[in-house]
Amino acid sequence: MVSKKIAVLPGDGIGPEVCRQAVKVLQAVAERFGHRFEMRSHLMGACAIDATGDPLPEATLTACREADAVLLGAIGDPKYDNDPSAKVRPEQGLLRLRKSLGLYANIRPVTAYDVLLNHSPLKRERIQGTDMVIFRELTGGIYFGEKGRTADGTGAYDHCTYSRDEILRIAHLAFKAAAGRRQKLTLVDKANVLETSRLWREVVREMAAQYPEVEVDYLFVDNAAMQIILNPTQFDVILTENMFGDIISDEASVIAGSMGLLPSASVGAEVALFEPIHGSYPQAKGKGIANPIAAILSAAMLLEHLELNTEAAMVREAVDEALHNGILTQELSPNAPYSTEEVGSYIAFWIADSNEKQWN
Ligand code: IPM
Ligand code: MN
Repeated sequence: MVSKKIAVLPGDGIGPEVCRQAVKVLQAVAERFGHRFEMRSHLMGACAIDATGDPLPEATLTACREADAVLLGAIGDPKYDNDPSAKVRPEQGLLRLRKSLGLYANIRPVTAYDVLLNHSPLKRERIQGTDMVIFRELTGGIYFGEKGRTADGTGAYDHCTYSRDEILRIAHLAFKAAAGRRQKLTLVDKANVLETSRLWREVVREMAAQYPEVEVDYLFVDNAAMQIILNPTQFDVILTENMFGDIISDEASVIAGSMGLLPSASVGAEVALFEPIHGSYPQAKGKGIANPIAAILSAAMLLEHLELNTEAAMVREAVDEALHNGILTQELSPNAPYSTEEVGSYIAFWIADSNEKQWN
């Protein structure tokens, strides 16, 4: 029996709906294994701006720091997207949270589930067997460089900088992950044009000697974008900087068949954070059509981080069971869709009911 504090940041749009299902699943795990998960919700994103004027209120940051792990839904609201003059934005909350908690590595696994192969717009024979993990640097690069308008107001800039140390720390995580998987690491960069990319290549090339069992490949991001669609099974671990990782992970989600299936873990110096890779999907808010599986699989990654591996395996098996039995939301099953709530309940009930002997 363990006792853990989980800070929950439901956020905006479909965030609260998918988070509720992940919390329900974590509660089922707690009951099934006799654990205690103290889960409290806190404001972040557009809802926090509405309530406090700040997308990341101090109380939320403090609660995250005091927790054993953080579970996040999604943030963002279209009213900010079309207003270039907005000074306060929901995304600033997320970026500040990542930076404040030192979450420098965002880990995004991409799997082609056999039962969903026909749901991807890509040919099944190309994607079958895809099993890759994207290690996206999360607290540096163009996202966090100096940005602004030129003095005369006619131009704008976003600086991209990286230090050796910023590259080293995430690269070590990626090399270790590759060593424990299929021993292949692909660095995705734009070293034919960008100086920061040349530094990434230099550092990774030097490090490769420390991981002789890992085969290292280097790909320019434009080519990588094509290869991910053309031949995704060639990838094992992809290591890349912040913005390239943002873009190629959305692209890679097409392989799984839906954005609503992809979880992520952000780890670093302090408490780790777990969130779906999808956004707040405001058009779907309140309709009960959002896929909760990305949030539920993020909860599975959270359990693994807390070293509750049997518990995590059970969540994964329950998700597989839902996929196999066609308990799918609208984007994957337009003719016979299940609601967000029904998918979450199916998975939570499966955990509550699962055979004692198999799991103890
Ligand atoms: C993501 C999102 C965020 C990002 C946004 C909401 C700031 O797209 O987590 O991938 O760009 O990192
Ligand atoms: Mn993104």
